[in-house]
Amino acid sequence: MSSVRLSFHFTRLTQSATRSSWRATATGSRYMSQNISTTEEAAVSLDIEPSRLTVTKTMSPKELPASKNLMFGRTFSDHMLKIRWTDATGWEAPSIEPFGTINLSPGATVLHYAQSLFEGMKAYRHEDGTVTMFRPDMNMKRMNNSAKRLALPAFDGNALLECIKELISLDRQWIPKESGHSLYIRPTLIGTNGTLGVAPPTEALLFVITSPVGPYYPHGFKPVPLHGTTEYIRAAPGGTGAYKLAANYAPGVVAQKSAAKQGYAQNLWLHGPEHWLTEVGTMNLFAVIKDKDGITELITPPLDGMILPGVTRDSVLALARNHTSGVKRLGGLPDVIKVSERPINMGEIIQSSKEGRLVELFGTGTAAVVTPVDRIGYNGGDVTIPTGKDGMGPISEPLWAELVGIQTGAIKSNWNYVVAQ
Ligand SMILES: Cc1ncc(COP(=O)(O)O)c(C=O)c1O
Repeated sequence: MSSVRLSFHFTRLTQSATRSSWRATATGSRYMSQNISTTEEAAVSLDIEPSRLTVTKTMSPKELPASKNLMFGRTFSDHMLKIRWTDATGWEAPSIEPFGTINLSPGATVLHYAQSLFEGMKAYRHEDGTVTMFRPDMNMKRMNNSAKRLALPAFDGNALLECIKELISLDRQWIPKESGHSLYIRPTLIGTNGTLGVAPPTEALLFVITSPVGPYYPHGFKPVPLHGTTEYIRAAPGGTGAYKLAANYAPGVVAQKSAAKQGYAQNLWLHGPEHWLTEVGTMNLFAVIKDKDGITELITPPLDGMILPGVTRDSVLALARNHTSGVKRLGGLPDVIKVSERPINMGEIIQSSKEGRLVELFGTGTAAVVTPVDRIGYNGGDVTIPTGKDGMGPISEPLWAELVGIQTGAIKSNWNYVVAQ
């Protein structure tokens, strides 16, 4: 490890000790700082350190909302996690505090230049009381990738998870007990220095809030109609579509509004003159087509820089591949599924629909897990998409059942991260 690199990123320490556990967090990089002698005034900035976590409990806990009245993102639990960062000191001591407002300078870079990114994951309560999160390591990885893309500070994802674990354990009564319910977790990282000028932030705040949520489809699966959006784009090559940046979402609202005005539930982002399918609203997209030999192909667009690498997307791909390879067979699926991460455009959807080879189309994401689609408004007409008898298609249904079984603890899996027993 180069001491030049270290002293560039590190600030001065006054302690005369050798700190073997401290790590430097620079914008985009992390270095192990073993054996840095601080007697030489080596400058060290800190990574997130769960052992420095302080907890201040609320003096006025809120009344728990009735589960049947929950609406996504409207109610927040009693506490939140905050971790400040400066480029001089690195990550400060994490604190769990009563849920409350955040003080920001009107000059804060997040307000002017959208230096903001976030994650979305859930904590599930199993029947035996165990609380788990689903593959949160993937969210931590994605959050760090987003941070690097915005020149915001990266961090040790495991350390943040440890702190989130404490937050959820403290507020575990906020995880509704009813089946299909969960606690939505929203980690967010923003640039906070109050200085105008487009530059890497010198101060940042990472905070985590949580919100109890009910099932996305309380009355069973209802396939949604999509409007094929060609007048706006969500992402472009070299852009930021592959990162979970706040700035990707605000411009999507007009596309969503336009779809709603035309009678569609969500919009389907079509890219380029060939109208490549990319994502559904804020979900990844899968199409299922039978090839000319009758083999079922599960297709999702490749991670080409325009697609958000969804945790659900990755899980669906893994389950389908494990099924075909025999690692774990899922009842109800054809013996062989060809799993493809490849481009697919509206021309292929229409052609396969005309030839009776289109099996289904669905979105995937943490919120709803699987959302079946029954039609796409395109070029002034509607392309009809087949759906199964209870709303879900024949391929998405067994994949959904397996995923939900894992998340709720009915199926054992090392994808579950235990928060509390
Ligand atoms: C744009 C976009 N695509 C896809 C997804 C699905 O990702 P995940 O499965 O990790 O929730 C999300 C939700 O996070 C999203 O915002």
